[in-house]
Amino acid sequence: MWVLVTGGAGFIGTHTCIELLENGYNVIVIDNLSNSSKISLDRVRKITGNSIEFFHDDVRDKDALNKIFTNYDVGAVIHFAGLKAVGESVAKPLEYYDNNIGGTINLCQVMDAFNVKNIVFSSSATVYGEPDVVPIKENFPLAVTNPYGRSKLIIEEILHDLHVSDKDWNIALLRYFNPIGAHESGLFGEDPMGTPNNIMPYITQVGIGILDKLKIFGNDYDTIDGTGMRDYIHVVDLAKGHVAAIKAMGSFDDIITVNLGTGSGYTVLELVNAFEVTTGIKIPYEFVERRPGDIARCYADVSLAKELLGWASEKTLNDMCRDSWNWQSKNPNGYE
Ligand code: NAD
Ligand code: UD1
Repeated sequence: MWVLVTGGAGFIGTHTCIELLENGYNVIVIDNLSNSSKISLDRVRKITGNSIEFFHDDVRDKDALNKIFTNYDVGAVIHFAGLKAVGESVAKPLEYYDNNIGGTINLCQVMDAFNVKNIVFSSSATVYGEPDVVPIKENFPLAVTNPYGRSKLIIEEILHDLHVSDKDWNIALLRYFNPIGAHESGLFGEDPMGTPNNIMPYITQVGIGILDKLKIFGNDYDTIDGTGMRDYIHVVDLAKGHVAAIKAMGSFDDIITVNLGTGSGYTVLELVNAFEVTTGIKIPYEFVERRPGDIARCYADVSLAKELLGWASEKTLNDMCRDSWNWQSKNPNGYE
């Protein structure tokens, strides 16, 4: 079966392409390369020995999508394409709504026209806002505080409406917690443009000497050591969750919404400590003010993923640290 992966040249997309190919799927990628490099896909071809069809196009371009659906018998779509920087979304809300929501509407219209009604969508734990309790279950109240998060929530709602209008649609909304780590080959990983916003690429860039020291945002949260707690999940486990969702397509009457996390929370200091122990690299740090919009604790209840998809994460925090460092040290400047 052909699977169309939008945003497939990006961090999670590349790892998902590998897992799809290893599970016997044929893969087509559409990516405008606004936050990625096509070198990643060359490496996917090399390591898997499989071909990937690549279209350097935008999901907002209907002609480009029409061409793909005309020429390939697409069975399902995994929709990663989108902008994802929270701070940037506050500065450029229209760009985020146009790209993320506009792109999704365009994609679904073309899918509908070609009667392809199987879609897996990249949502985020950000839709839970600040939860009253942890672990977070899928039926918790939703609250968003920035345009990026709002774009994810609006898309979830659009996809719900689509399913109400036409029950032939099979839709999986996957809410990711904090993906880190990298493929164990060291050939693929997160390649942020400019100074990273997220913690793991920041740590690895301190490790390699690009950045001086880690700034830890707050040490007065209600956690064991005062630093923020998150559910870090290895990107390869996350990618496998997408294959599980594709395999489950058509088995449910309703749209499904599933957390993809490990079910364990680690604080920033625990993460730094795990990184130092695993790699032997010291990470100098200082405590600074809390980052606006950050929450104290966030980790997933993962029972629904097990029940509906038969999927659970396997890799440990040490695996994540080892593989993130392996990628960074082998590719000090990312893909380029
Ligand atoms: P990424 O930026 O590495 O990948 C996204 C890809 O989409 C990039 O290759 C980019 O070039 C492409 N793209 C963006 N807009 C496009 C458009 N209009 N048309 C075609 N291609 C376009 O990000 P990622 O970390 O791999 O995230 C993938 C998805 O998962 C995103 O939707 C993101 O919001 C979501 N997500 C990511 C995280 C995370 O921490 N990485 C957490 C929760 C959800
Ligand atoms: C961020 C986004 C969230 C998105 C998620 C995954 C914000 C406010 N939220 O979440 O919408 O879904 O990424 O992409 O940006 N930290 C530091 N120093 C740093 C960087 C981070 O101490 O330089 C801390 C943070 O305070 C947090 C933890 O590390 O406690 C993880 O941060 P980060 O990787 O940015 O992810 P989130 O804040 O969970």
